[in-house]
Amino acid sequence: MVRFRHSVCCALFLLCTFGFALAQEKLDPAVESRIDALIKQMTLQEKAGQISQYDGISPQTAELVKNGGIGSLFNVLGAENTNAAQKIAIEQSRLKIPLLFGFDVIHGYRTVFPVPIGSASSFDSEMIEKSERVAAKEASAAGIKWAFAPMLDVARDPRWGRMVEGAGEDPYLGAIVGAARVRGFQGTNLADSQSVLACIKHFVAYGAVEGGRDYNTVDISEQTLREVYLPSFHAAIKAGAATLMAAFQDLNGIPASANHHTLTDILRVEWGFKGMTVSDYNSVNELTIHAIAHDHAEAAQLALTAGVDMSMADGLYGRSIPQLVESGKIPISVVDEAVRRVLRAKFKAGLFDNPYTDTKRAQSDILSPENLATARKMAQESIVLVKNENGLLPLDKGVKTIALIGPLVDDKANQLGSWVANGRAEDAVTPHEGIKAKLPNATILVSRGVDLDLQGPHYGSGATGAAPAPSTATGVSGEAATGPMSIDDAVSTAKKADVVLLFLGEPSNYTGEASSRSTLDLPGDQQKLLEAVADTGKPVVVVLESGRPLNILWASDHVQAILQAWYPGSQAGNAIADLLFGDASPSARMPITWPRTVGQIPVYYGHKNTGRPTSPDRWHTGYQFESKEPLFPFGYGLTYTTFKYSNIHVDTPSIGPSGVLRVSADIANDGKRDGTEVVQLYVRDRVAPTSRPVRELKGFTRVTLAPGQHKKVEFSVNANDLGSYDPSMKWIVPDGTYDVWVAPNAIEGEKAEFQVTK
Ligand code: NOJ
Repeated sequence: MVRFRHSVCCALFLLCTFGFALAQEKLDPAVESRIDALIKQMTLQEKAGQISQYDGISPQTAELVKNGGIGSLFNVLGAENTNAAQKIAIEQSRLKIPLLFGFDVIHGYRTVFPVPIGSASSFDSEMIEKSERVAAKEASAAGIKWAFAPMLDVARDPRWGRMVEGAGEDPYLGAIVGAARVRGFQGTNLADSQSVLACIKHFVAYGAVEGGRDYNTVDISEQTLREVYLPSFHAAIKAGAATLMAAFQDLNGIPASANHHTLTDILRVEWGFKGMTVSDYNSVNELTIHAIAHDHAEAAQLALTAGVDMSMADGLYGRSIPQLVESGKIPISVVDEAVRRVLRAKFKAGLFDNPYTDTKRAQSDILSPENLATARKMAQESIVLVKNENGLLPLDKGVKTIALIGPLVDDKANQLGSWVANGRAEDAVTPHEGIKAKLPNATILVSRGVDLDLQGPHYGSGATGAAPAPSTATGVSGEAATGPMSIDDAVSTAKKADVVLLFLGEPSNYTGEASSRSTLDLPGDQQKLLEAVADTGKPVVVVLESGRPLNILWASDHVQAILQAWYPGSQAGNAIADLLFGDASPSARMPITWPRTVGQIPVYYGHKNTGRPTSPDRWHTGYQFESKEPLFPFGYGLTYTTFKYSNIHVDTPSIGPSGVLRVSADIANDGKRDGTEVVQLYVRDRVAPTSRPVRELKGFTRVTLAPGQHKKVEFSVNANDLGSYDPSMKWIVPDGTYDVWVAPNAIEGEKAEFQVTK
């Protein structure tokens, strides 16, 4: 397959065939007959056990494993521990069916990569795939064979804390990134000891929760479901994703964990998915709280018959399924099918042949220099430069006195971000450490200024069933306070320096599950710190660490340079220093539209045109006292050189519905340094039976050019991928005129047009 690192874009291959059934996955007849034989031998209770997953190993769960009452465990870490649990299944259970060990490997296992929204900002599927390969290698060395990742939820509301876990607002970017992550986790052979099964989640539309409040209701049209929220899942399935997790939330009146329409009609019938599905933590049980089930048995019945093969953590299937079958409420064939999918996943993972993990692997495979080097490169590629007035950056390494100010300067834990698997704060390089290593001869002054606001709820307290995060990794920032903590001290420190670097942001436990916010303001007194430091008149660079867009309207007017670093992971300080001092150049782009104010939410580039898009009347342009335009558009990002776009050319001015659109443009580096540009392709269908977004991303490619160098960048897109759903939800490619842009972001670019003919 052509990757988008090359000049021909892969749009053509990855996102085609919306609405078409997936070519049926081929099953291995030898494996299927071994599964048949096992199912024949299993008692009803063992079947119910096989489709039950439990959290952690304890005397109770060990007893269940022995009795064939558990198919999968999660949150058991370390090869010694997984092997010990596996030994019970293999040596003491009647049928010796191996256990499958799962874990949330959200952005690395021990080597922590940038949070997913950060790595998605790279628009670099090769690096993302490589990073997940490292995550798979480390996790599998610790006995894990199943990653509860990638999270594919399109998210358009930064108040929602889980935006940090996904790839942002766009279905196309989400699809490319999701497929890359699946390839990275699974490799080319799932039975390989270094591969893990991917679990794409949360199916589906979890990102659309009302008000950005976690677990909240989702009520969206079938068209929005299909055009915005489903494509990343479909692409990941085409990339071979072995398993899928159902979401917590209500979807148009039917909670996602009991939603037959999404879990069966679309997933199984339309897409032909043969993999295994699992509920989210306790989400089958919660069907009684959603109040679509009278009791737990009815909840189990609804979930299983809707298409949830395995229930997570609540033990409900084990307790209820036998009785539901015996009373005729669930046909045994439905149970057998779920068991079959679980066993198939275990065969694919090679567990019947190799149930144990080599305990020696941890030493060589975890936190190795190569893994850290990959994490550093991924972090460099994930940090977005959004402002650089008068080319302040990169800074000269000969700088004499530099001030590092802010609560994140020396904070190890918060460099990692939320949900850090087995990541440890002690492994993280802080900005201070990274800069010190880069500038052995400079005078580095440090003042923390203010603390991060730590009033918020600390996720990991166990409320929803996520693994409590290791305290070393997500603990608060206090452990490494450097210098006195006051704004006065920060100001006097700033005054002594030639340049000030201000490290601001939100604590990582403000992001992730159950961490929605009603404001995007910098927590605590950081805004005051920012204003006081900027007031010194010194050149100021803000490095912002967060899992969502924050309110940086004031900063964007008053400081010279801003880097949006997300949470860069174990190598944070090194990657930040590489970019600040020009050993690497920023190349990341916004995977989300960055609002000016929280009141603009939701704001995303692919909005509809409305009937009065350009009315001068303030009532229609946006808000009474605020523009509707964001602070930074989707796809936006700067680097240390500049690029010029010209000569857009449509090689195929007229295509049929099964044709291929070919578009090219010249991109020239007209600045003074080497640089990488993320060249983006957007399309707009001018007239269709249903109203269309004003732009839709259909391709992108990273292009690296030396000063003065230029390149013809070519894109190819299947006409079928330009289509949309008609009012009867049939996928069509409307004929007529389409606009096309080759662009540096979602609001600029060189424009041309083409025709789709009947
Ligand atoms: C709840 C989260 O929603 C899900 O993403 C995660 O995989 C499970 N808990 C297991 O920890």
